[in-house]
Order: sequence, then C-alpha cells, then structure tokens
Amino acid sequence: MPSVDLAQASIVVGVSGGIAAYKGVELVRSIRKLGMQVRVIMTSNATRFVGPITFEALSGNPVCLNLFEGSDRASIQHIEWARSADAVVVAPATANVIGKLACGIADDALSTFLLAVSSPVLICPSMNSQMYLNPAVQQNIENLRRFGYRIVEPESGELACGTSGPGRLPEPEDILDELVAVLTSKDFSGKRILISAGPTREHFDPVRFISNPSSGKMGYALAVAAHHRGADVLLVTGPTHLAPPRAVQTIGVNSAAQMAEAVFNHAGQADIVIMTAAVSDYRPEVQADQKMKKGPDDLTLRLVKNPDILRTLGERKSPGQLLIGFAAETEQLRAHATQKLREKNLDMIVGNLVGRTDSGFAADTNQVSLFYPTGNVETMPLMEKQKLAHHLLDRIAGLPTMT
Ligand code: CTP
Repeated sequence: MPSVDLAQASIVVGVSGGIAAYKGVELVRSIRKLGMQVRVIMTSNATRFVGPITFEALSGNPVCLNLFEGSDRASIQHIEWARSADAVVVAPATANVIGKLACGIADDALSTFLLAVSSPVLICPSMNSQMYLNPAVQQNIENLRRFGYRIVEPESGELACGTSGPGRLPEPEDILDELVAVLTSKDFSGKRILISAGPTREHFDPVRFISNPSSGKMGYALAVAAHHRGADVLLVTGPTHLAPPRAVQTIGVNSAAQMAEAVFNHAGQADIVIMTAAVSDYRPEVQADQKMKKGPDDLTLRLVKNPDILRTLGERKSPGQLLIGFAAETEQLRAHATQKLREKNLDMIVGNLVGRTDSGFAADTNQVSLFYPTGNVETMPLMEKQKLAHHLLDRIAGLPTMT
C-alpha cells in the first residue's frame, strides 16, 4: 500500500531552463491526474522555454518564480512549500541546477527551496551529452547521489542539439513511475516475485495461431506495484501491446512451452509466484513450416495438451513459497476457483467472471473474488487494475508465510 495516500500527496516540481521543459508540462498534468497537489517553481531561464501561465493552469496553483516579488509572503513561501512537500521532482535538471545543489548554493527561488527540503527529491538531469559526460557534472551528480538525492538517469538518443548520446529527459510517465515508487512503502523489500502475464500463442503455421484476448494489463500492473513496494520482480510475459515496465526485469515468450521453460527456470528462486497469464491449455500437434494453403471445405486441427505450469509449481512448492493463481470463468466461479485452488496447491486464487466489458481480459478495470485454502472468500468491488494490484499485494502480504 502506498505509504502516502497518493490522492492526498503534495508534490513540488522544479523546472529549470532546458529544452525538455515542455516535458515538465506533461509531468505536471500526469501528477494531477493521480489526484496529487502540485506546485511548480521555475528558474528564470525555464520561463524562456515554457510560460509560467501554462504551469499555473495545469497545476491549479500560482507558480513560484522569484523569492522577492509578488506577495509579502513570497520570501518565506518556499520554506512552507519545502515543509509540506511529500516529494520533489526537478525535471529537467540542468547542469547549473545540479551544480548549485551539489555545492549548497542558493541564489534563486528553486535553489533556495531545494536546500530547505527534507522530503525525497528526484533529480532528472537533461542536457547535451558532452555537458552530461563532463567530469565536473558527473562528479556533482555522484555527490548528489551520496547526499541521498535520487537520480533519474537520462536516456540515450537523439538530442535537440542534433547530437546523439545520454542526456535526454525520460518520458513523463517514467518519471511519474519513479515518483510513485518514492511515495510507496517498501513492505516487499527483499522478496523475489515471479509474475506471468498475457496470453500465449500456439502456432499451427508461421503466420497463424490459437490464442485468447488477454491484454496482460493485470500482470503488468502487479509487476509495477510490486516493484514500487520494493520487491525484486521478474515478469514473464506472452505477447502484449504494453511497453515493458521500466526497471522490471522482463522475459518475453510466445508459446505455453516457452512460458513453462522461463517460469520453471526462475521459480525455484522466487518467494512468491503469481500466475496471471492466460496460458493456452492445448497446442496444435503439428506446426507447419510454411503457410498452410487453402484446401478442402473442412479442416481438422488436432490439438495436444500443454503443460499446466501452475499445477507443476504446486507439486514442487518449497516451504515458505507462496503460489497465487488466477481463474477466469464464465460460470460457477466459486466451484471452479476453489477446485483449482485445491488441485494446484495454491495459497490464494483470484477469480473473476469473464465476458463482461468492465471486467476481465482486456478491460482497465476488474471485479474479482479472492479464495483462500481456509475456505474464506472475499469479494472485491470493481476497480482499476492498478489499484487492484495494490489490494492483491496487501492480501498476499497478509498470507501466513508472509506475516
Ligand atoms: N495455468 C497454467 N498453465 C496452464 C493453464 C493455466 O499455469 N496450462 C494457470 C493460469 O496462469 C492461472 C491458473 O492456472 O493462474 C488457472 O488457469 P485457468 O485457465 O483459469 O484454468 P485451467 O487450469 O486451465 O482450467 P480450465 O481451462 O479447465 O478452466
């Protein structure tokens, strides 16, 4: 569970004068979308790239530009903001801002504010690669790290100045991800969690396959939430349209056999295995080397059974390991889910009825019931998969071997 209620959190975004200041706009918008309060401090160079009015409109708060202008209280408001902030993000952070902070210099609103902050501060360096690789800048960044600042590494790629290399500000959603991680308690720290997600594809020729509409959203949401809560996460995923979560180790697979191999290779080291994947139970007996040509009016595909990954894990389960399954059913949820819970030797199974548009496979929301070996059943309300991921982790944290 996040240690700070995200909807109540108060964030200060510092924007300094880099070409990536426009990404700060998107960042402020995304933070607001999660319900957090945002206040923005800009350096005077930043205002050459983006007007304060844009930040004012998106944050819903006045922007702090200067310590000695505006209201009588302007000269102390930065101290108030520093006291009330749950976290601070400086994006983009120029070489100048980084250098000043590393040396304890306070000569404008942002640098003065930063010295007064005691909550976590994320520094997102963004500049030309040569500047970024300059030993003085690298030394300053190293010092900031030593002082406890969190550095969000810049990405490599084409830069606005036409050169290529490290220095590009990460995308706003990736910075937001780091921010949420900072605000989240680390109750899974030291735990290794293996999560499977998405569908599998069982090819019968190079261009055709049997699959299902699983989007992978629930498994990815769990992987991100577990990472935010300090777990060491490995995500084994079938083909999806989702971007691999930043900072989560991910193995991409195609078929059930490949998923089984990846999961079996890593499950032995995992404290917790969560199988959200919609694994195909059968695969075509024969996979043609070339595209199959149209032929007679009838065509019969002979299917053979795939390994049941979770059942095998249940048979091999080591003491203290937790196994969590998912059961997607179209009827008799309780009977089918509890049967799978028992037969696969699970510690919890998350059951849902599929076939509704607001719950299950491709939806952004899910309505599930949790079944436990004790016979207890908990029915959860319909909610966003990201929120549900945290609720499921809360329940896993409460399972006998975790407490
Ligand atoms: N599962 C698995 N390997 C399979 C099939 C399913 O590991 N070959 C896992 C799923 O990831 C899920 C759980 O088992 O966590 C239940 O999957 P589900 O498809 O609901 O059930 P099945 O066991 O396949 O049974 P059925 O298809 O008959 O409902």
